[in-house]
Parts: sequence; structure tokens; C-alpha cells
Amino acid sequence: MTPIGTGDKNSPVPPHQSSTQTIPAHGEVPQHIAIIMDGNGRWAKRQHLPRIAGHRRGVEAVRSAVTACIERGIGYLTLFAFSSENWRRPAEEVALLMQLFTSALTNEVEKLHRNGVRLRVVGGTQRFAPKLRSLIEEAEQHTAANTRLTLTVAANYGGRWDILQAMSRFMKDHPAAKEVREEDLAPYLAMSYAPEPDLFIRTGGEQRISNFLLWQLAYSELYFTDTLWPDFDAAALDAAIVSYRGRERRFGRTSDQVEQAKRAEVA
Ligand code: FPP
Repeated sequence: MTPIGTGDKNSPVPPHQSSTQTIPAHGEVPQHIAIIMDGNGRWAKRQHLPRIAGHRRGVEAVRSAVTACIERGIGYLTLFAFSSENWRRPAEEVALLMQLFTSALTNEVEKLHRNGVRLRVVGGTQRFAPKLRSLIEEAEQHTAANTRLTLTVAANYGGRWDILQAMSRFMKDHPAAKEVREEDLAPYLAMSYAPEPDLFIRTGGEQRISNFLLWQLAYSELYFTDTLWPDFDAAALDAAIVSYRGRERRFGRTSDQVEQAKRAEVA
């Protein structure tokens, strides 16, 4: 049995700080950016193309976001590729998205590896076809030792699913537990290997979290842009980072306390 707070073999102890337990280290450049890539369908419609053409252009935007993050020294990029609710889309679009994930994994993993990218996929992947599942497993294994950027793709992911799967696995390991503390559950969450996102971006004009990283976004800075995902380039990423830099990250403290802490750091 795994002792409380130390996680299990699939969920190593998080080396990162919790935003509700302590003030996490944070600097000018976000360490972790999480993105809801919205607007592929509308982009395609504007070009009089089928929706899948928008998703294909979305893959190109993923490539450019990965490069931009590497160039800017951002350690973690997390992308919401398919939510647990996206199964509600027309079957044809779901099938085409699955094909797109399969071909992206087949064609891109070696390039990611050469660029020092570790790929992780979080979500209920058991619902995917065996071929896609084995491609995911191979890609994760192949890139496991890379340290430049951790690219997490959330697929068949939902924030509520994540909290519930963590709770279920925790209870299995600790059937006699009478209460659960945050630090007990954190190692069981799907992204226990990553710090909490500093910056959350949603493209495509909607202003909602849509069941993304509900636990992990507790103190993330939120940034919404009308830019459609296929048009989201390095300059658009920089605009988000500039907005992030202008935020005062108080983590529950007063403005005066934040200033005092800054002065203490400099002294
Ligand atoms: C939302 O746009 C986008 C998706 C549900 C799919 C995202 C997938 C990709 C960008 C391609 C594959 C990604 C990887 C990581 C290989 P939407 O269809 O909801 O757009 P709309 O709101 O304009 O209709």
C-alpha cells in the first residue's frame, strides 16, 4: 500500500508547490501555460472549408506553440485537445479528430523527441482505439527522459473526471482513511508531475473553463482572446505573456504584502 502523501508508482510525489498551501515560485516567464484551443470550426467556416480543415490548421498552430514555448524557456505546455464532452460532436467529426491525433502522433513524435520535448497524454485514454492507445504509450516512453519542455495533451479529459479518478485511486490505496488532505490527493491527480499552470489561455472568444484543469487552475491567471486557434501564433502568445506580466499574483495576500515580499527578495 502506498503511504498517504507519497502517491503511487504512476503518480510520483509532485516536486511542485500547491498554490493554496504556499506561495509558489513565479517569475516573469510563466513556467506552465495551459491552453483551450478553441475556434478551429469557425476558422474553417470563414474560409468556406469543412470543419476538419480547421482542426488540421489547428495542428500547425500546435507546432508553432511548441516551438514558441521552447524558445521562451517555458517548461510546461498543456493543451486541451479533446474533452470528455467532445464525444457529443457528430460521429464523423469525432472520427476525423481521432485520425488527426493518430497521424500527429505518427508524424510528430520523432521531431518532438529531437527537440527535447517530453510528451504526456492525460485523460481517459482507455476509450480510444487500441492503435491510438499504443501510439500514445510508445510516444510517452520514447520521450520520457526529455527535459526541455513537457507537452501535455489532455484527451478525453475532464477536470471532474480527474478529481474523481484521483479520489478513487486514493481510496483504493487507503481504504481506512477517514479524511483526505490536499497533499494526500495531489499525487493522484493526472498532472501530478507538473506545477500548476501560471497562465491559462483560451482562444476563440469564449470566456469559460469548460471542465479543463479545475483543481490545477485555482490560482492561474486567466487570459481570453478572440483570436481563433489556427491564427494563434508566436506574437499572440507574446501578447498573452505581456498580459500575464502585468498581473499582480497575490495568492490571497494583500497588495502591500506582495510589495513587502518583493522588497525582501531584492534585499
Ligand atoms: C476546438 O475548436 C478544438 C477542438 C475540440 C480540437 C482541438 C484539436 C486540435 C487543435 C488538433 C489536434 C491537436 C493535437 C494536440 C495533435 P472547435 O471545433 O470547438 O471550434 P469552433 O468553436 O469554432 O467550432
